[in-house]
Amino acid sequence: MIAVTLLLAAILLAAGWLVIHNAQRAIAEEMDSSVALASDLVETSIRSDGEALAAAKRLAAIGHLRHLCLSLVPLTGDGGECPAGDGADAPAWFAAMTRPNSLPNRRIVVAPDYAIHILADPDDEIEEAWQDTRGLLALLLVFYGATIVIVYRLLGRAIVPVQRIDAALARIEHGDYAIRLPHFSLPEFDGIAAQFNHMAETLAAARSENQRLREHSLRIQEDERRSLARELHDELGQSLTAIRADAAGILARRERLPDGVAESAEAIAEVAARIYDQTRLMMRRLRPPGLDELGLDAALEEHIAGWQRTHPAIEIAYTGDDTLSDLPSPAAIHVFRLVQEALTNALRHGQPKRIDVALGTSAGRLRLTITDDGRGFDPAARRPGLGLSGMSERIDLLAGQLHIDSSPGGGTRVRADIPLV
Ligand SMILES: Nc1ncnc2c1ncn2[C@@H]1O[C@H](COP(=O)(O)OP(=O)(O)OP(=O)(O)O)[C@@H](O)[C@H]1O
Ligand SMILES: [Mg+2]
Repeated sequence: MIAVTLLLAAILLAAGWLVIHNAQRAIAEEMDSSVALASDLVETSIRSDGEALAAAKRLAAIGHLRHLCLSLVPLTGDGGECPAGDGADAPAWFAAMTRPNSLPNRRIVVAPDYAIHILADPDDEIEEAWQDTRGLLALLLVFYGATIVIVYRLLGRAIVPVQRIDAALARIEHGDYAIRLPHFSLPEFDGIAAQFNHMAETLAAARSENQRLREHSLRIQEDERRSLARELHDELGQSLTAIRADAAGILARRERLPDGVAESAEAIAEVAARIYDQTRLMMRRLRPPGLDELGLDAALEEHIAGWQRTHPAIEIAYTGDDTLSDLPSPAAIHVFRLVQEALTNALRHGQPKRIDVALGTSAGRLRLTITDDGRGFDPAARRPGLGLSGMSERIDLLAGQLHIDSSPGGGTRVRADIPLV
């Protein structure tokens, strides 16, 4: 706007200067020709009259003519004076700019002592020039004002869509893919709006497809774990039981056996029992026992009691909420896995003395907190692992929020907040 205003002002000044300059030139020319014409006429009329002085006196008596001033002056004196003109109605600045610097004049000797003095008087001409010029100047001013208003309006119209596009892009940046731009009257912006809306639709579709795939892959993972746990139980568990039974059968006939066989049978029974215990542990990790039958609260209690048994030096406390027993299965398994990962992280990385797991509900939301007093970490500079990102993926699927508060030396708190639908 500033550039346009300055450019228009320059054009206005140049045009104004040209108009005034032309007026000034026209006035000067008019003065020259008036004085020349008047002197020719005066000379002719005096020569043709016998009484030159009397004729000159009659002419001088007229005094003021249009563009001219006549006076009879003694030859020895200065040039005759005209009553000072005031440029009539023209403003003083215009009169000052257009008045010729030196006014043309002529002396015609009419008698031994006298001359007629013809002096140009530009006042009338300046006034006429002002009448013509002011219309033009006014027109230029109106044109200047109107152009500025129109340019301002047009720029405003052009900027509104830019502002809306900018705001919509900011919303997209914050993950709001539901935003759409309206139609714009300018075809270029309307084209951008259409492309933008198409992009937002594609992003929204990609996000929901992504979500669907994540859900699907987590479900497959859980199904796979469940079937693996069943296989371990049904196949490996049965075989180990059979091996243990065979070893016991051999040992039952201990007296009739050659030397060393009984000891080997005992070793087989012992190894089989150890593998069986390991298998049970693996089965529990693969499929939390009791989650389907007893619900989330009981399964977590059981799971944490198991951790407490294997880590007696650390105090692991659980505060549950039995209203969550009937939480539907996908949500329950996600929450369970979240606690599992947070506990594993605390024990693996934090070396804490105490861990608190709290599960509760308030205002229709499930709230889960796992707090440890270990050495903590800087969440912004953490080593990338699969555990924390897996946690936030699960929370995303449940449309909840995950907060990890931790600082080096200050322990760690994992908070999850999930809507219960
Ligand atoms: N409770 C905690 N105390 C201290 N550091 C932690 C804690 N939880 C996470 N961290 C830090 O955050 C990092 C990332 O954790 P994350 O669970 O994502 O990966 P990981 O445990 O290293 O590997 P995995 O993929 O097996 O889970 C860890 O390496 C650890 O440095
Ligand atoms: Mg981890």
